[in-house]
Amino acid sequence: MSLFIKKPLAQLMAQGDDSEKGLKRTLGAGNLVALGIGAIIGAGLFVRTAAAAGEAAGPAVIISYIIAAIACAFAGLCYAEFASMIPVAGSAYTYAYVTLGEFLAWIIAWALVLEYALAAATVSIAWSEYLNNLLVSFDIGAIPYQWCHSPMEVSMGGVRGIVNFPAISILLILTLVLIKGTKESALVNAIIVFVKVGIVLLFIFVGWQFIKPENYHPFLIPIETAGHESFNKHGWGGVLGGSAIVFFAFIGFDAVSTAAQEAKNPKRDMPIGILGSLIICTILYILFSRVLTGVANWEEFKTVGKEASVAYAIQNYMHGYGWLANLVTVAILAGFSSVILVMLMGQSRVFYTMSKDGLIPKIFSDLHPVYRTPHKSNIILFVFVGVFAGFIPGEMAGDLTSIGTLFAFVMVCAGIWVMRVRNPEAVRPFRTPFVPLVPFLGITICVGMIFSLPKNTLIAAGAWMILGLIVYFSYSKRNSYLRNNK
Ligand code: ALA
Repeated sequence: MSLFIKKPLAQLMAQGDDSEKGLKRTLGAGNLVALGIGAIIGAGLFVRTAAAAGEAAGPAVIISYIIAAIACAFAGLCYAEFASMIPVAGSAYTYAYVTLGEFLAWIIAWALVLEYALAAATVSIAWSEYLNNLLVSFDIGAIPYQWCHSPMEVSMGGVRGIVNFPAISILLILTLVLIKGTKESALVNAIIVFVKVGIVLLFIFVGWQFIKPENYHPFLIPIETAGHESFNKHGWGGVLGGSAIVFFAFIGFDAVSTAAQEAKNPKRDMPIGILGSLIICTILYILFSRVLTGVANWEEFKTVGKEASVAYAIQNYMHGYGWLANLVTVAILAGFSSVILVMLMGQSRVFYTMSKDGLIPKIFSDLHPVYRTPHKSNIILFVFVGVFAGFIPGEMAGDLTSIGTLFAFVMVCAGIWVMRVRNPEAVRPFRTPFVPLVPFLGITICVGMIFSLPKNTLIAAGAWMILGLIVYFSYSKRNSYLRNNK
């Protein structure tokens, strides 16, 4: 039987309709937009904006954000068509199963683990760092180095880490919230989103009065600036380099599509959730980056303002608003928590669907008798992500997250194109405009970004994919329900 065996669309739809025994449909359009914002605003905005300005784009980081947003919009439009058309949990994996066949669907699912599980691990490690910052700034004292770092890290004083305990703790707390129920998780997410969006808006409104127009001149980093000689570190090349850095800030809008089976009215609400959260975050990001680079000069983000850059800008230039710096740290912790929550949820929903297809063991789709959430899957995932979060340093994980995401974007764009050719008559409550131009541009930009990532990251992602092939050929192919007509 062909490696590229495809799941019939009708069979998939029947699976989605079978909600009596499955996941509960509890999420409305508002919840879905909040879910998207929950996953999107996090380390990317609070950490990478200054990094992109300092390293590559200068005050023109605002244009970098617009470029990254356009790239995401192409993919987002394709996600929206699929999510309205195939309202089944599993996101890009599910779409590929219908359009590109089982083998490619498996590969995407394996890449999605990089995106969701590793994003959760990366952000939980960052959460642990910021928790320490907050404890120190409230004079409570830092957590001893060895209990908040991996064994691969050594402090300047020679102390070796043992385990990153706060990172594991936040994962455990959020896993318990997820097990309790999707509606409860959505409520916790909505509260967090309210706090972080509120503080982002506050920073924009207050910071606007402290903008110094001279910080915007020159707008692009001049070529003669020391340390900025290479193409993607000055001028318009730097603006492009900056867009690859801030791309991380947009990761997460696609996680909305993993919850398709829990949406009350997925055909209408899925596109609203995906595109709505993307639009809102884009507006906030543009305003935020404009204010940040207007309040402090971009050159400071290379040196004194490199760490905790937002707090740095407030403390040094927004006199009388020192309290806002602490609030921003609270927003960052809240922001990170919701990113972790939605990523863990997305991953468990991808596993749920794969398990329903027989590609991974049944335990991943067992539902809790009362809460109807995939509790066993959530616990296994906690252990898996916890190992990364507790024992491995955070650096490379961020880039691996980007690779996994970009790969999934490419496949979704390709899938929309294939589907329009093969199933032109299928009902599409939301239609991606200008097909094949939009998917084509989406694929081109995402492939370009993949190859702009560090070589080591590409090698690590390649190794992960080889492991995926071993699992597929030794387990999944043999147990696939589609192949065995189950
Ligand atoms: N977009 C998410 C963040 O910035 C992953 O943390």
